[in-house]
Amino acid sequence: MKYSFKDPTVSIAIVGAGGFIGSHLLDALIERTSWRILAVDLDFYRLQHRLHHPRIEFLCDDLKKESVVSRIASYPIVINLAAICVPSRYMREAKEVIESNYNHPVALALACAKSGAWLIHFSTSEVYGKTSIEPCLLEEDSSPMILGSVRASRWSYACAKQLTERYIASLQGLSWTVLRPFNFVGPRMDFIPGIDGEGIPRVLANFCAALLKNEPLFLVDQGVSRRSFTSIHDAIHFIFAVLVHQEESLGQAFNIGNPENELSIAELADRMRQIYASLKQVSIDQVSPVQLISSKEYYGEGYEDSLRRIPSIEKAKRLLGYVPNEALDVTLQETLSWFIEHYRLAL
Ligand code: NAD
Ligand code: UGA
Repeated sequence: MKYSFKDPTVSIAIVGAGGFIGSHLLDALIERTSWRILAVDLDFYRLQHRLHHPRIEFLCDDLKKESVVSRIASYPIVINLAAICVPSRYMREAKEVIESNYNHPVALALACAKSGAWLIHFSTSEVYGKTSIEPCLLEEDSSPMILGSVRASRWSYACAKQLTERYIASLQGLSWTVLRPFNFVGPRMDFIPGIDGEGIPRVLANFCAALLKNEPLFLVDQGVSRRSFTSIHDAIHFIFAVLVHQEESLGQAFNIGNPENELSIAELADRMRQIYASLKQVSIDQVSPVQLISSKEYYGEGYEDSLRRIPSIEKAKRLLGYVPNEALDVTLQETLSWFIEHYRLAL
């Protein structure tokens, strides 16, 4: 089936629509399509600017409810973004993390198999697990997925996402596509602790918060881990590539990432300090310093890390004609500028 973006009879359900990725996706669907949208989330504070849009129906409810699941599965296309996905919670709330990343999506997958909906499920680059520091391109259909011990509950999220992927792939009659994001970054990501959330945000949001509050940027275990950061704009572009290539996407898992944007967390901290100094027109010595901290002290017992993650994007190129093109420095500057502007009155 080929869906036309201009066809007003097409409808789509977005679960987790109020989150970082969901709010950008909703904006893009409104701007680039004529589709009707069911937006589901526990809250919609990031979507205040869309609350009265005639093509969006907002359902402020919980995916754990059967009635919510069957309502969502009645749409022909379902994108599931709902999850607990902040690492600081993987250790303290492992049970909730597993329910959110396994039990709830599996119930949705079963309902979609029954209704015939196309389920586009958001997994994670963390399914590749406890990767080493050796450079190695992670390939969707051949790279191993090795996790740490059961005692190290950091892996609760990765393990639940892995099992959900395996369940989805094994489900007879389900039309599915699985997407594995590699550290998306951009405006609206996460929160600032004490202002609009609690806990430890993902690294770029946490560095932006530290710079704005004039507090140290914490480098966990010397900041030697490496990540390939992906602009939220490239990510949205990727989701649209999937939506226009349903036939090529069915029954496939795809990395969404940018191998050009790989760097260590210590390098990320340096770049962010430089960008902040230049945006604020101050010298680098006036900018928050970095501070080393052990993972045990920062995240507590049960934390382990994935040391390096570089996505192969060959499959996405081959099947969807997709290539990312946002340069990292532009994305970092855009994100920090958004934080400065958005939290101007709160800080
Ligand atoms: P986010 O936390 O900003 O958004 C998730 C949204 O899901 C939140 O708004 C939350 O309220 C909602 N939600 C959680 N549980 C729910 C429930 N039971 N019922 C209804 N809504 C619920 O996260 P995000 O960064 O937008 O990530 C979206 C998805 O992509 C997640 O599945 C995540 O695991 C995956 N992912 C994201 C990244 C990334 O870099 N952002 C990387 C890898 C994977
Ligand atoms: C994240 C989360 O698990 C998910 O949001 C997502 O599924 C996954 O990335 C992904 O993209 O697939 P991770 O990259 O470890 O995992 O999360 P961050 O909190 O952004 O941490 C990245 C690195 O920075 C880690 O090595 C962490 O120890 C380090 N870090 C984090 C710091 O050095 N300082 C901080 O203040 C925060």
